[in-house]
Amino acid sequence: MESMNDGVLVIDRAGVVKTINPEYSRITGVTPDIIGKSLISYRPGAKLPETLVSGESQVGVYRKTHNREYVVDMAPVIVEDEIVGAVSVCKSLNEVQLLTRELEKQRQRVKELQEQISAFHKVRYTFEDIITNDPKMKERISIAKKTATTDLPILIKGESGTGKELFAQAIHHTSLRSAKPFIPVNCSAIPSEMIENELFGHSEGAFPGAFEEGKAGLFEMADGGTLFLDEVSDLSLDVQAKLLRVLQEGAIRRIGEAAERRVDVRIVASTNRDLHQRIAKGLFRNDFMYRLNTVVLQIPPLRDRKADIPFIAKSVLSAREDVDQEVMTFLTKYDWPGNVRELRNVLDFAMCMADEDERIIIRHLPEIMQKQYRLYDEETEVFPLYKAVEAAERTILESTLQSSGTTVEDRQEVANKLGISLATLYNKMKKYKIR
Ligand SMILES: Nc1ncnc2c1ncn2[C@@H]1O[C@H](COP(=O)(O)OP(=O)(O)O)[C@@H](O)[C@H]1O
Ligand SMILES: [Mg+2]
Repeated sequence: MESMNDGVLVIDRAGVVKTINPEYSRITGVTPDIIGKSLISYRPGAKLPETLVSGESQVGVYRKTHNREYVVDMAPVIVEDEIVGAVSVCKSLNEVQLLTRELEKQRQRVKELQEQISAFHKVRYTFEDIITNDPKMKERISIAKKTATTDLPILIKGESGTGKELFAQAIHHTSLRSAKPFIPVNCSAIPSEMIENELFGHSEGAFPGAFEEGKAGLFEMADGGTLFLDEVSDLSLDVQAKLLRVLQEGAIRRIGEAAERRVDVRIVASTNRDLHQRIAKGLFRNDFMYRLNTVVLQIPPLRDRKADIPFIAKSVLSAREDVDQEVMTFLTKYDWPGNVRELRNVLDFAMCMADEDERIIIRHLPEIMQKQYRLYDEETEVFPLYKAVEAAERTILESTLQSSGTTVEDRQEVANKLGISLATLYNKMKKYKIR
C-alpha cells in the first residue's frame, strides 16, 4: 500500500474509512485523519458508499474536487457472498491524458486556421470570366478544363497581361482542390535570398530574425491545394534545383530542420519568357522545365486575335453602348503591348472621362493613346489625303468666315466667293463646328 502508484481508500460495511495510502492523499488531498471516520460525513459527495448498497463495480469515474482531477475505480469487497466493505482505487489524470486533451485542442485550432487560410485564398476567377471569341483561345480553354481535374503540372505561356493568372485561377476553381488554398508566388518579386524562406519556411531560431516558433512556407500553406509559380523563369538556378527536388520527392524541408514534411501540392506555373532560350543561355534547368510542362497552354497576345478586341471591349463597356466607331476602329488597330490588362485599363479610364450619357470618343482615351492615335493617323495610307483635305477646307472656311459678317447676306457672299451654295456652306460649318 505504501509503495503503490495508485491511491487506495477502503471502507467497511458501515461506510467507515479503514485505511488510505499516501498516494491517495497525494492525488486527492485527503489527509490520514479521515481514518476511523464515516466517509460520507467527511466527504459528502463521495460515491463509494453507494457501492455498499448496489454491490456493483464502477470503472473510470472522472472526479474533480478542489481543483484536483482524477479517475476512480470502485468495487465492493465481497466475502462469502456478503458485502463487507468497498475499495476505491484512483489514478491522477496522468500527463499523457492531459497532453492528449491539449493535443486535441491544438488540432482543432490548426483546423480552424487551415479553414481561414483556404477562405483567404479563394480564387476570384472561373473559366466563365475568360472573355473570348477566338478559336485558338477556345481550344486552350478546353485543354485547360480537361486537365484541370487532374494533378498534372501545367505551364502557361504568354505575354504580360494575356490572362495567365486568370487561367491559373480558373484551373484551380475547376479542380478537385478548389476548397483548398490557391497560393500565388510571384517568383520575380521575391528577392532570391528570401525565396527559400518564403517557399519552405524555417524552424525555430533557424537564423537571426527567424520567428521563434518557426514559420510555415508557401508550400505548406498550399497543402492540398494549388501553388501558382508566376514568372517561373525568373527563379535562380539553385532555387530551381531545390524546387525540382521537392517536386520529385513530394516533401519539403524547412530551413534549419532535419526532418522532411510531406506536402500535397499541384503546380501551375507561368512564364512570359521563352524557356528554351533561357535554357540555351544557361539560365534555366532543362530537367526543371520538363517537370513543369506536362501540359502547355500558350496564350496568344491580343494583337494576334484582333476580333477579341471589340469583343472584350463591348463586354467591358456593356452598360455604355455608345462608343464612337472611330474609337473602336482605333482600338482594333492598336498593338496592345500590355494585352488585355492594357485594354481594360484604357476602357476603365475612358468610361471615367466620358459623362454617363456621352458617347465615348478619342478625346476620352488616355493622353498616351491619343498620341498613338495621331501617330497612327499619319502613318496609315488610307486616311492622310482625306484628313489633309479636311484640314485645308477647314482653314479656308475659318479664315473667309472670320473676315466677313454674320447675316444671311454676308454668308451668301462667302458662299459666292468659295463657289459653293449657301446650303453647302452651312453644312460644312456644322461639320467643322464653326459658328
Ligand atoms: N480573356 C480575358 N477576358 C477578360 N479579362 C481578361 C482576359 N484576359 C485577361 N484579362 C484581365 O486582364 C488582367 C490581366 O490578366 P492576368 O491574368 O493577370 O495576366 P498575366 O498573368 O498574363 O499578366 C486581369 O484583370 C484579367 O482579369
Ligand atoms: Mg501575371
